[in-house]
Amino acid sequence: MTLLSDDDGLGKKEQEMEEFMHLMYAVEKTAWKSSFSAPVAKRLEIGAKVLDAGCGNGNWILEQANNYPASEFIGLDKTSSVFPSQIRPMNVYFMRGNLLTRLPFDDDTFDYVRMSNMLTVFNKENYEKAITELVRILKPGGYIELSEFEHSPEAGPYFAMFSEEFKLKAQSEKHGEQSFQPSESLPDLLSHTYVLTSLQKAHQRLLIGGRGGRLGMASYEMIKMCFGVIHEELLMSKWALNKEEYMEIVAALLEELNERESWVNSYRHWGRKIVGRCDGIGMGGCIM
Ligand SMILES: C[S@@+](CC[C@H](N)C(=O)[O-])C[C@H]1O[C@@H](n2cnc3c(N)ncnc32)[C@H](O)[C@@H]1O
Repeated sequence: MTLLSDDDGLGKKEQEMEEFMHLMYAVEKTAWKSSFSAPVAKRLEIGAKVLDAGCGNGNWILEQANNYPASEFIGLDKTSSVFPSQIRPMNVYFMRGNLLTRLPFDDDTFDYVRMSNMLTVFNKENYEKAITELVRILKPGGYIELSEFEHSPEAGPYFAMFSEEFKLKAQSEKHGEQSFQPSESLPDLLSHTYVLTSLQKAHQRLLIGGRGGRLGMASYEMIKMCFGVIHEELLMSKWALNKEEYMEIVAALLEELNERESWVNSYRHWGRKIVGRCDGIGMGGCIM
């Protein structure tokens, strides 16, 4: 692969990925009119310790660090090349780490942990591992929040086909396994930690394209970029297509999105770690 460099020293692929992550965050934030749903704003104002797990290029963390200067933010990602190199507020720290192994934090360290858009990199088993570890390092009384985009089940055939492959990307090593819907599985995974309470799930429905106004156009651009650029190589090789054949299918997808009502859902799940003693994790025996 040839990497084209720009002034920032980023390759073309990295630039595209960065642009895509900006777009995803902008769409999510605009849809929700907020950057998070867990009731943590007051704590963040006073001063909290926060982890963004799989933080990517740190969009979320940089914005919150600016909004909440009394809080301390840690962004953790497996790939350190995605971390911002030019902006680094005093209350932000980025570190390399693998969410599928034990993280270098003591139990009960963070007031708030969050993780977003891991559908293409984690299968259900990985989510379970990561959630267990995030809950371990969450303080009693602290909040965990997860957010993911999902296509609507009523999507047209092209959108459904692309979206299914997109989800299967994370699960490619598990042939024959059915892809899972995070909106259905994440509540169970969170609940089965047996140390979370006040579990909530909410979603925003985003109509794709002109019918959805400016947000709809931004959602359209997000999907166009997701399949036309970000996952192009993977899908071309999976479907054994050359570039021209692949672009024809992408064009059919875009036409379908313009012609019929399709939407994506942005889901958020959050919950609070119980305050008190928990005997027999896995048996549900918690003393509040
Ligand atoms: C699609 S990006 C999402 C980034 C960011 N959370 C967002 O919403 O824009 C997935 C991120 O997860 C990171 N990642 C993948 N596997 C990981 C792991 N096992 N531990 C930590 N980070 C991981 C990738 O490097 C990538 O930055």
